[in-house]
Amino acid sequence: RTSPAGSVRDYIRTIPDFPHAGIQFRDVTTLFADPRGFRMAVDQMVHPYAGTRIDKVAGLEARGFIMGGAIAHQLAVGFVPIRKAGKLPGAVLSERYTLEYGEAEMQIHDDAIQPGERILLVDDLLATGGTAEAGIRLIERLGGEIAGCTFIIDLPDLGGRKRLEKLGMSVDALCAFEGE
Ligand code: PRP
Ligand code: MG
Repeated sequence: RTSPAGSVRDYIRTIPDFPHAGIQFRDVTTLFADPRGFRMAVDQMVHPYAGTRIDKVAGLEARGFIMGGAIAHQLAVGFVPIRKAGKLPGAVLSERYTLEYGEAEMQIHDDAIQPGERILLVDDLLATGGTAEAGIRLIERLGGEIAGCTFIIDLPDLGGRKRLEKLGMSVDALCAFEGE
C-alpha cells in the first residue's frame, strides 16, 4: 500500500536489522524532528478526541511521552506517565508484561488517576499490544475509563489491534506497516 505524499508515514524512517537481524525498525525520530511531520502527527492523533470528554492523557515510556505530552497540551488536559519499573518516586501500581524476549514491568503512581476519569492512552507503536495492555490494566485498576488508545504506527501482523479490541478498546493508528 502506498501513502499519498506528505502523510505521517512518509516521515518515518525504516532501519533494517535493528535491534536484530531480520527486524525492520520503524524509527519515529525523523518524524519528531520535522516540524511539519510532528505537528501533523499530533493534530491527527488529537482529531478523533477533540470535542469528546478527555480528563487526562496517559503516555507509555518512552516515545509515548513525546506524543502524549504534545497531545495533552493540545487538549488542555494533564499528562500521566506510565513508566518502566523503578523510575517513579511515589507509591505505584505495577503490571508485568511479556516482550519478544522475557518480561518487563510498567508502573503508574497510585494517585495519578481518579475513579471515573476518562483517559486517552498514547504510545508511538502498537506491535503485540503487550505494553499497551499493561497500561490499560494500570489505568483500569485506578478506576479510569479508557476513551481510546492511540498510536502513530500499527503493525497489524503482530496482532496488537485485535488484542486491544478484544478488551473492548477503541484503537486508532495514523499508519500501518504490514507484510514488509
Ligand atoms: C516499543 C514501542 C512500544 C512497544 C510496542 O517500546 O515503543 O512501546 O515496543 O510493542 P508491543 O505492542 O509488542 O508491546 P520498547 O519496549 O522498545 O521501549 P521504549 O519505548 O522505551 O523504547
Ligand atoms: Mg515503547
